[in-house]
Amino acid sequence: TSQTLPEKNCASITPPYAQLLEKLQSVRDILGNKPLTLAEKILYSHIANPAESLSDGKLVRGETYLQLNPERVAMQDASAQLQFMSAGMSRCAVPASIHCDHLIQAVNGADPDLQRSIVTNKEVFDFLESASRKYGIEFWQPGSGIIHQIVLENYAAPGMLMLGTDSHTPNAGGLGMLAIGVGGADAVDALTGTPWELKAPQIVGIHLTGELNGWATPKDLILHLAGKLTVRGGTGRILEYFGPGVFNQSCTGLATVANMGAEVGATTSTFPYTPSMRAYLTATGRAPVSRAADEAASRGFLAADEGAEYDQLIEINLSELEPNINGPFTPDLATPLSKFGSFVNEQGWKDELSAGLIGSCTNSSYQDMTSVADLARQAKAAGLKTKVPFLCTPGSEQIRATMERDKVTDILEDVGAVVLANACGPCIGQWKREDRKDEENAILTSFNRNFKSRNDGNRLTMNFLASPTIVTAMAFSGKLSFNPMTDSIPLPSGEEFKFSPPRGEDLPSQGFTAGRAFFYPSPTPEPQSDTQVIIKPDSQRLELLAPFLSPFGDYNPRGLELPSLKVLMRVRGKCTTDHISAAKQGILPLWFVDNADYSRIGSGDMIETVGVEDLLKGKANATVTIHVTKRNGETFTIPTRHTMSKDQLKWLHAGSALNHIRSRIN
Ligand code: F3S
Repeated sequence: TSQTLPEKNCASITPPYAQLLEKLQSVRDILGNKPLTLAEKILYSHIANPAESLSDGKLVRGETYLQLNPERVAMQDASAQLQFMSAGMSRCAVPASIHCDHLIQAVNGADPDLQRSIVTNKEVFDFLESASRKYGIEFWQPGSGIIHQIVLENYAAPGMLMLGTDSHTPNAGGLGMLAIGVGGADAVDALTGTPWELKAPQIVGIHLTGELNGWATPKDLILHLAGKLTVRGGTGRILEYFGPGVFNQSCTGLATVANMGAEVGATTSTFPYTPSMRAYLTATGRAPVSRAADEAASRGFLAADEGAEYDQLIEINLSELEPNINGPFTPDLATPLSKFGSFVNEQGWKDELSAGLIGSCTNSSYQDMTSVADLARQAKAAGLKTKVPFLCTPGSEQIRATMERDKVTDILEDVGAVVLANACGPCIGQWKREDRKDEENAILTSFNRNFKSRNDGNRLTMNFLASPTIVTAMAFSGKLSFNPMTDSIPLPSGEEFKFSPPRGEDLPSQGFTAGRAFFYPSPTPEPQSDTQVIIKPDSQRLELLAPFLSPFGDYNPRGLELPSLKVLMRVRGKCTTDHISAAKQGILPLWFVDNADYSRIGSGDMIETVGVEDLLKGKANATVTIHVTKRNGETFTIPTRHTMSKDQLKWLHAGSALNHIRSRIN
């Protein structure tokens, strides 16, 4: 049965603004009241102990380590729970949620796909559900939606600091907060109430003027910016948008922009509090949060100070922006739509689209879905259907149910769309694609990532990123060179059909509907400590964690130097979190002083450290060198740099961050 959206009890999801403002003032007092950016205000209002952290009265972006207290943690599937369990606590120190969204394979439609995936992944879902019950975590079961859409609809709030165990956690920045994607061990810091460490990021100011018009959407803003900044341009930096161009965009549009900040490597992205954020909070049952945010904003919290300084300033006039198509294989290869046809031609690619995919956490808002429905209505009236498979993943049960009620689903299905489960599906490669196997082909998606094989496992699939409306228009044409702003599609009658620019609705005029009630967790659940966390004894996917041994234990004849270690692999090219997910758990990251040394080490070589002992003993200016023994017996030494803070060295000494946290707690 469907239920309408009631106003929620917002006690656990409203940031403690009075406390945050007080903390911020204490930091201002230490730093001498200079103007601050919005990102700085949010970060500094979450410093665990300003007097201790900033005892020398200095805070330098890019240098100072901040010890922060995040207010919430969101976890996608099995990501931090085993680590948390190994800390030995009976409940989480902050509110947390678990979201089952990455394991649902798209085969032939929402219901059968969901049922099949629940069976094949039962042991993972049983584990997550039982762990949620034991530790008092909100459990969003498979089919309830994609983590970032659910966070935006339920938990995000202006001025909040949140961690999530997924790269696109920054999506929640659309509500004017800082949401940061981290690994499981970092999430455990927040879950155990241990201050979480972050090197104060640099801040890139992005000044938006003008207004998006015609076919240009918020997706095109971030696609354009990705082309400017490249996949490295945001590393160690927060993207902070400001200016009049922020205030005429929808909250969900801003979330799309924040979502894809991950593609330029940014720590996160944020925006000042806007009327559209207020409207979105109210429409999603959180008017009390918006009232509290109004009050905090009136006290100067939710926007940058006049005169705040940025490390880099970028100007973008939204009125001049045209749709962009980025790819293939990298999100920063941006081509304006008007030049895309000739780009395809120059590359010698076949002028043929093989599939269009819309939705995902990046682009499945009500505004996105009603915009594509508008195009579908126009095409249907001309007697057209999509020429290629056209798949749609709604971001949440709330979006799916509201689409269904407002006949958006009907019109999409009328023109040939297959609506998939409320889950990641093809965005994370959960797509049982039967056509084009091992064949070069081109797909267009409204998703955020496009490295090789990401969607269908086929390295020859060229995957281009675009707004959902461009994907939809192209799906009707079937050609990569089609520009819906200027081109028309021939009809069997001999007439020509041309799209009018799409019109979507920011928020549903009848309000959102929550959809099927069983998809929703009970809010603020209490831990049930007698619950047995279910891990199958013969599981190939889950295992209780035994603590890592400290590498400096009795068994290591080298004492406080790392034992002789074999190089497992050398990676090259553009790495995403999918490639480096193994780099996890109390490792010692070292940088090459001379980049050329990178090529001198290969898999199978043996390395030993020299200088870690000095580091661990706190010797001033300690350096670490690496002694390398090649497989052919050749030996040499290379200098390195490290960026570990005093606290991170404690993890190294303990054998892992988890070992350190456990010893602190118990
Ligand atoms: Fe899922 Fe793709 Fe977003 S994998 S969380 S829909 S980036």
